[in-house]
Order: sequence, then structure tokens, then C-alpha cells
Amino acid sequence: MKYNEIRKTFLNFFESKGHKIVPSASLIPNDPTLLFTVAGMVPWKGILQGTEPPFAPRVADVQKCIRAGGKHNDLDEVGFDGRHHTFFEMLGNWSFGDYFKESAIEYSWELLTKVLGLNPNKLRVTTYETDEESTEIWRKVSGKEAIRKDDKENWWSAGDTGPCGPCTEIFYDFGAGIENEDDRWVEIWNDVFMEYDRDANGNLLPLPKKNVDTGAGLERWAAVLQGKIDNYDTDLFVALMKAVEDLTGVKKTSENTSSFKVIADHLRAVGFAIADGVIPSNTDRGYVIRRILRRAMRHSQILGYKGPLLSKLYPTLITEMGEAYPELVHEEKHVVEIIQNEENSFTDLLQNGMKLLETEIQKINNNVLPGDVAFKLFDTYGFPLDLTQTILREKNIDVDVAGFEKSMNEQKERSRADTKGTRTLWESQKQLTGTDDSTKYKPDSEMHSKVLSILRNGEFVESADANDEVEIVLDKTNFYGTQGGQVGDSGELQKDGKTIMTVSEASRVDNIVIHKGTLTDTLNVGDSVLTLINTSLRQQTARAHTAAHLLQAALRQVLNEDVEQRGSKVSPDSVRFDFSFGRAMTTEEKQATEDLINKWISEDLPVSHEEMSLEKAKAKGAMALFGEKYGDTVKVITAGDVSCELCGGTHIYHTGEIMHAKINKEKSISSGIRRITMSVGTLAE
Ligand code: ALA
Repeated sequence: MKYNEIRKTFLNFFESKGHKIVPSASLIPNDPTLLFTVAGMVPWKGILQGTEPPFAPRVADVQKCIRAGGKHNDLDEVGFDGRHHTFFEMLGNWSFGDYFKESAIEYSWELLTKVLGLNPNKLRVTTYETDEESTEIWRKVSGKEAIRKDDKENWWSAGDTGPCGPCTEIFYDFGAGIENEDDRWVEIWNDVFMEYDRDANGNLLPLPKKNVDTGAGLERWAAVLQGKIDNYDTDLFVALMKAVEDLTGVKKTSENTSSFKVIADHLRAVGFAIADGVIPSNTDRGYVIRRILRRAMRHSQILGYKGPLLSKLYPTLITEMGEAYPELVHEEKHVVEIIQNEENSFTDLLQNGMKLLETEIQKINNNVLPGDVAFKLFDTYGFPLDLTQTILREKNIDVDVAGFEKSMNEQKERSRADTKGTRTLWESQKQLTGTDDSTKYKPDSEMHSKVLSILRNGEFVESADANDEVEIVLDKTNFYGTQGGQVGDSGELQKDGKTIMTVSEASRVDNIVIHKGTLTDTLNVGDSVLTLINTSLRQQTARAHTAAHLLQAALRQVLNEDVEQRGSKVSPDSVRFDFSFGRAMTTEEKQATEDLINKWISEDLPVSHEEMSLEKAKAKGAMALFGEKYGDTVKVITAGDVSCELCGGTHIYHTGEIMHAKINKEKSISSGIRRITMSVGTLAE
């Protein structure tokens, strides 16, 4: 019986027993304690705990699962046997306070022996050591005497806290004489009787209802039903590994089987996770997926193949699994693109890193790779630590993990020092009373200023030369230094009518404005300079800032009044705006928001810039940023009668100057916070 048929048989059976059939939930769980959906019960945690109402008393499905990273982690085992997978499918039936032990056991037995026709003599069962009731039910239903097991074997939970309970497991016996004794018995079904909720202190509290949570690995069912000891010999994996052979031109042999298994397994984990919205990255689940993808590439290299791998194999995954999981088809373009990007960026790194690793292996005499080498592989060549470990495990070499962590911490310290570096130095300049930047809102004003300080290579100097990269502070300036989410001005300083410094960005430390850039000639403390900001970039930034205010006003009209700004970045002609909102915006909502902003732009509303007391601004109803500190006198920016905000940034005078606004993207950045990126001005046009 092939995969597609097994899925259908399972679901049809439970439908005939009054279960509601539902599609798989996402691999990204709605549960901060888990990186991935690790079992079929994960989407139902709230129902089991009684915090969400059950939508049906009985439910059955086939759930996509990933066990890699976190408590349930099978990543390291994949490739070394025929039973482990990072991605797998779990067949499951649930009772939410409806039937309990008796029916659950009866259903399992009926499906396995009557519907699927497994020989009862080939099945063995286990129960929890004190669970007399289940043991007795098994005697009655099957005539079998269950083997009793302890907490370690027959108590199930998804995480350290949450719903849990004793379980009974069903094993299939492939028979005596199997080469590897571990392969003889395979667990094919686990029926968990969820009656408890474990709290953070480890106490078991009774759940509001007694529930049934069962889980059966589809890959193992396929193996048993197809008479294969190794899951990777079943139809789905045979097809995937055939595609690997075709792509690499390498035949699968007993020597290279693990590489074939790793690639086939990892293709599923990476493909399904990205289709569900995971993006490879350096943190959390994104990092797990990146590691899995890199491990697959390493195995393709072992096979002697260097090109893009998983992106080329993805169409075969669709052929095999696209019918059961239409999201694979729907997201094809996106998934292939993301995988290709990852593959392209890691290909050269992998080869160069392997060269370094091979040289280092020659130097080892105690079978331990030094931690700093493992760190260099990680930091320079993008080798996740476990990739290095797996490669070395094949050669019986360990990694000095403590040394690796030490190097990692040292680097973190260094980078912290770097970013804080010049900031701390400027903060120590007590004699600087501050820069007078009161003309920053008048970009055209010409300022004759005096050089107060020059910082070069971490040292304050009296004089610096052409080509030196420096940071300088003047007594007064019209440059806007980065603050409040708005990037600082760029421009130049002139001396005696000639450019003396190109300023790449002005920033702020407390009340001083720092001009960062490169000198074109000698500059001394005490010199007089003329400050000239890049007015066209300033105009682009100003219109983006006013547009950000319109965006906030539009969101409050289209979504609701509770939408609040949670952060922003305003740069020339582009806006990044974070706000509180609990779900993704619909296409219609995005369009309505954009239309509203463009309507206000076409109305060319006047934008007023007023200074007033904080009290008066509040009375006027000006919006302020949550958690932000304001002085006694504030600036209030008002656009027509649509927006009124406290703001220290630079703005335009008529909304028509924005020309056009275009929302490019709307996405989640953390729970309850969304991010919009928007273009304006010539960029949008
Ligand atoms: N939740 C149980 C398991 O994953 C059924 O094994």
C-alpha cells in the first residue's frame, strides 16, 4: 500500500467512526515553547487544556511534523539508520473529552488487524506500569498481555510543561533473524491518554477533560505495509532517492546510502518548512532549517556533486507529496527561490571550509579539533557547529565544544565593543557642551561652524589628513543626526570654498551631532568650515517621514483606532513602519491603506510644524510614541486634519510633495507586531 492510499485509508476509517477530518496544521506552531510542530497534538494544545473550545468531539488528520532542534530532536540520527527522520507525517485521531481508553484501543486494533490486515501474531503492546485499565482492555480486545513500561518509555508530553499522560504503544515484529536486532521491533502507534497538565514546577494537575491523543508514523506504516525494514526503502523515498541519482549521476550503493538518506530526508524538512513560511536565518527555527540545508549540501559534496541540490529536487517532492499537501505546489516559486539563494551563498564557503578543515585534521594528534578552529569554520565559512561535528564523527574526531563557545563569547564581546566603541569615546568628551543644531529644520541655511573635536582610529587628534576616516564635532550644524527612527543627513563640509570632507552620515550621541566621513585635505581643530547638507536626499527623507505619519493615520482608519507605532526607520524615499496588530492584513486592507494615503497626497494637504508646550500638544490631541520621553517644549507635525503627531524629525510642507506612496510588504516580525515597508516619491513612482 502506497503513501497516498495509507493516508486515505486511515482518514476514511476514522471518518466512519464519527471523526471530523481536518487538514494538517502549519509546521510553525502557535506555541512559544516549541520551535516546530513536533507531534499531531501540538495544534490542539489549547483544546486539551480547556482554554479553547473543541470544534468537534472527535478529530482525525495527518499532521506534518519536524523533530530537529529542541527537546524532540532526531537530526543527528538521520542517515545512520532506517527509522529516523527530521520531517515526518503523523497519523492521528483525537477524542476531546469524548471516548477514552476503551474505544481508542479498540479502534487501533480494528484498523491494524481488520482493515489493514496485519497479522495479530506480529503485534506486541506496552502499557504504562500502573495503568491496569488499559492492560485489561488489551486482554479483552486482543487477548494480548501488555508489557509494562515506566515513565521513560510510556509517558508522553510535547514539552516540559503542558498536556501529558500515560500511553500504550503498539509494535510490529519483523521477525527473528533480522541482521540488526534494533530493526526487529518497530513502534507503529502510540495512544496517549491525556489527563494531566504539567505546570512549571513539575506538578501534575488534572485536565478539565480526559482526552485521547494518538500518533502513528506514516513512514513506519508504509515500511510495514510494504514489507520493508528500512523506511527509506518505501515508495516515496525510493522516488526521492532516484531523483538524487538522476541529478548527481551517482548510483546509490551500500557505501553511500547515508548521504542519499540525508538528502531525501532534508529535502522534505527544508521544502515543507519554507513552504510554511520559515526563512533560513541565524536564529531559532530559521537556523535549524539553515543547518539542515547545509548538512544536505555537505552530503551532496560527499557524492561528488557541487551544484544546487535541493532546489533542483523540489519538483520531485511536489510530484510525490503535492497532492496531499497543495501548499507545496502553491509556494513552489517562493520555496525554490529561497533554497537557491541559500545554496548559492553556501557553495563556495563549503568548499573552502572543507579545505581548511582537512588541513587542520592533519595537525590533530589527540582526536580533538580545537575550539577556535571550529569557531573559524562557523564564523568565516558558515559551518554550523553540528555540521563540523557530523563531518568529524565520520572520522572519530571530537570537537572541543567549550573552546568553541569561548571563542564565540569573545567575538560577541568584541562586536559589542565595536558598536559601542566611538559612542563611548564621545560620551567621555565631557568638555563638549553640545552642538547647536537649531537650524537643522532649515536645510538651505549656510552655517559657518568651528571644528571642536576630531576622532580618528579611536583617538582624538588635533589634526587629520586627506583620506583619513574621521568623526568630527562642530559648534553648530544644520545636519540632522540620526534619531527617532530617521536616518541622519549626508553632505559635505567646505573650507576656503573647497570640499574638505564628504559626510556619509550624521549621528547623535546625547546632544552632540557627529559628522562621519572622509577628509579630502588637512583639517585642524579650530578650523572654520561651511556645512552643506545634501538637500535632495534631505527632501526624500522628509517626504518619507511625513508619509510615515500618513501611514499610521491610514492604518488607524482602515484597521482600528488601537493600532500603535512600535518602531520605524525613515530613509530617503523609504519607510519601514512597525505597529501593533494581531493578524496579517488582507489584500483589500493593504490596498485601502495605500489608496487613502494617495488620496491625502493628491489633496495636497498643508503640513504645519509648530513648537508648543507638551501640555498644549496633548490638549490638541497630538499622538505621542508609547514609552518615549519628551521635553517640555515639543514639535507637533500636523497634516490637514488627518494626522497630528509629536515629532522631532524633518518634514515637508505639503502632502503633494510625497508624489506617490506604494506599500511593498506587510509581514509579522513578532507576536502581535506587524511591519510594513513602503516606498514614496520617485522610488514609488
Ligand atoms: N503525541 C503522541 C506522540 O507524538 C501520540 O507520540
